[in-house]
Amino acid sequence: MKFFVDTAVIDDIRELNDYGLLDGVTTNPSLIAKSGRDFKEVIAEICKLVDGPVSAEVAAMNFDGMVAEGEYLAKIADNVVIKLPLTLEGLKACRHFTGKGIKTNVTLCFSANQALLAAKAGATYISPFIGRLDDLSIDGMELIHEIREIYDNYGFGTNILAASIRSANHVKEAALAGADVATIPPGVIKGLANHVLTEKGLDQFAKDWAATGQSIL
Ligand code: E4P
Repeated sequence: MKFFVDTAVIDDIRELNDYGLLDGVTTNPSLIAKSGRDFKEVIAEICKLVDGPVSAEVAAMNFDGMVAEGEYLAKIADNVVIKLPLTLEGLKACRHFTGKGIKTNVTLCFSANQALLAAKAGATYISPFIGRLDDLSIDGMELIHEIREIYDNYGFGTNILAASIRSANHVKEAALAGADVATIPPGVIKGLANHVLTEKGLDQFAKDWAATGQSIL
């Protein structure tokens, strides 16, 4: 499963990229607002930093507006992916960009039928939001299983990008469900490396090593 980071904070992206843990980046209007930075500048900066796909979301609600904004954003860098909402207008824009060879990420997906429509529109990525479904006591991970089954039944090439991930357990469950990608907040990605037994074991090794009085170099 590929790892995208879900943030517009450059320092976090740089840090994770330096660890070699990043396959791409997703942003959304809320993350851009939180960063306090200029949208187009941030996207250009992220695209220079990261080799993989970088999702930049349109703000328009209608087809013409989405096409105009998406075409502008696509010119920022070759690795820009146009993020479009899962509405009829968004799906029409998705078909438009797919026809032009521009990658798309159809976002705000909350049902298997929506994911089916996105695949039929030729989306590169579909973003089902796990955490926001869980917030409503609906099993978000079940949606990933359903989409995996439907896409495999028909050989759709759209990548399942598990989104709205809130915990390490979400990451594991998304991987088990066969998501192609998970977009994950920076803190959750770093937390995946933690285990109390790793820390305990390392402390013991350090003490025992010190007691030998040896050094490797
Ligand atoms: C995905 O592309 C979205 O940016 C993101 O995963 C939404 O997560 P949230 O529900 O935690 O805001």
